[in-house]
Amino acid sequence: MKSFYITTAIDYVNGSPHLGHAYEKVLTDVIARFRRMMGDQVHFLTGVDEHGQKVQASARKRGIPPQQFCDEVSQEFRALLPKLNISNDDFIRTTEERHKKVVRQVLQQLFEKGDIYKAEYKGFYSTRQEQFLQEKDRNPDGSWPEIFGDVTEITETNYFFKLRQYQDWLIEFLTKTPDFVFPKYRQTQVLEFLKEPLNDLCISRPRERLEWGIPLPFDEDYVTYVWFDALINYYSAVAELPGVWPATYHVIGKDILVPPHAVYWPIMLHAANIPLPKGIVAHGWWLQRGAKMSKSTGNALNPLDLVTEFGADAFRYFLIREMNVGQDSDFTREQFLVRYNSELANNLGNLVNRTLNMTTRFAGGAVPEAGLAGELEKSLQDLWAKTRDEFIPLCENFQFHLALERAMVFLTETNAYIEKRAPWKLGKSTEAADQEALRTSLATMAEALRLAVALIQHVIPSATEKINAVLGYTPGKVWRDELVWDARLAGSKVAPSLVLFPRPEPPKPPAGAAKPAPAKKG
Ligand code: ME8
Ligand code: MG
Repeated sequence: MKSFYITTAIDYVNGSPHLGHAYEKVLTDVIARFRRMMGDQVHFLTGVDEHGQKVQASARKRGIPPQQFCDEVSQEFRALLPKLNISNDDFIRTTEERHKKVVRQVLQQLFEKGDIYKAEYKGFYSTRQEQFLQEKDRNPDGSWPEIFGDVTEITETNYFFKLRQYQDWLIEFLTKTPDFVFPKYRQTQVLEFLKEPLNDLCISRPRERLEWGIPLPFDEDYVTYVWFDALINYYSAVAELPGVWPATYHVIGKDILVPPHAVYWPIMLHAANIPLPKGIVAHGWWLQRGAKMSKSTGNALNPLDLVTEFGADAFRYFLIREMNVGQDSDFTREQFLVRYNSELANNLGNLVNRTLNMTTRFAGGAVPEAGLAGELEKSLQDLWAKTRDEFIPLCENFQFHLALERAMVFLTETNAYIEKRAPWKLGKSTEAADQEALRTSLATMAEALRLAVALIQHVIPSATEKINAVLGYTPGKVWRDELVWDARLAGSKVAPSLVLFPRPEPPKPPAGAAKPAPAKKG
């Protein structure tokens, strides 16, 4: 079996998880589940980033020790995962000993190799991005871009990692590996960034300024810069698991591609003689009214509200259907409801209801054996073959939004097939030919439903599991074998009904809203 190791970014615990965090987990989960379907040996890691100035400041604000603060907030991030039906194999916290140990080892190794030196640092720092800034990061008018939040100037003695020394190697590596970053246009941006000489990376903070970090193994007066610490989580989590490293993909947001994941990380690994990951998937942002949703700016949407209201499947479906991986998308409740109603409730939900209902009414609840396929059946089967053949490469290339669009077309056409065949009319006839056509139509709709469900199970895992159960069907172990149109459902006993995507309740008036005032007489 092919090993497939996939990771999400690890989230800062300075605030509660929001829609952006939830999306990244769902996207990575959809990729992980898809690779399992394809037969890979998947290892899926997610976790939290607990050190650094931003977390220390948030703990101080709450007036509690940073470890206690991290314990609380990390629990919130961890609790989100089962609610979203995330199939991660591991969850790492950077305050765990297994992680700190490996960070110290890597630092010691690079120090002994001569890749780390001490010098005076003078420059600007963004706490929000936990990033050292350069003059070229400024807006044309000299101000700092909004994404950096408050920027402070610091002057202090620190340790530096010789990034510059590896710049040519990195350029050569990226040139030889054109699909290291997905989407491709982001790899171009990395190479663009590398046209300017790199500064060596300041990798320490004096302990008197920042206590909340991993002490440098060769100088306990300093703690490790949070990015140098955080990136290593991908490796430290599996350092003792044979056959997992190197990672296949790191899934991250576009804001942390350049420089952390596309510059620091490959150079750190190369310098430490550790094999590089196969690639990086950089997704875009969820926006609200055009602005990035974030903890720091306070326009974040609580993903749990939507999950509570509509269920994890509908939430996952929307995020994956709506977002073209790599680009940004505006989140609106209206668009969520459009997809929910038309694609999940109408398209899929209706097919489920009709199949169960008509099989119960016209065939005593057991899927009949199909008779000879007519033109309508043949064209639906052809559409199935085309849908399946296009769907797989789309998923392999992270084009899940298009893959789901194809699956929806197949469902729409299956519903149209039912309209044309009108089993409810055939059911009234006692003619042998009509009875056969009825059996064929019932078998066809059940089979089309089974196949559609097999195709989209990585996106809506619990709904598809329920549908298989009401069809009286247990899928086999080899996913590709599930995608063959055949008669395996014949004789299967179906349940009479299943409520999957109920119509949402009309919005409640806001709490405490006044009752309509009685009309005043003038
Ligand atoms: O950057 N839409 O943590 P983080 C989509 N600890 N994705 C979003 C988003 C949005 N509105 N807002 C954030 C960090 N994200 C570091 C990572 S990895 C070794 C260390 C994504 O909590 C963001 O792009 O600020 C990142 O991939 C992840 O959420 C965590 O962001
Ligand atoms: Mg961030």
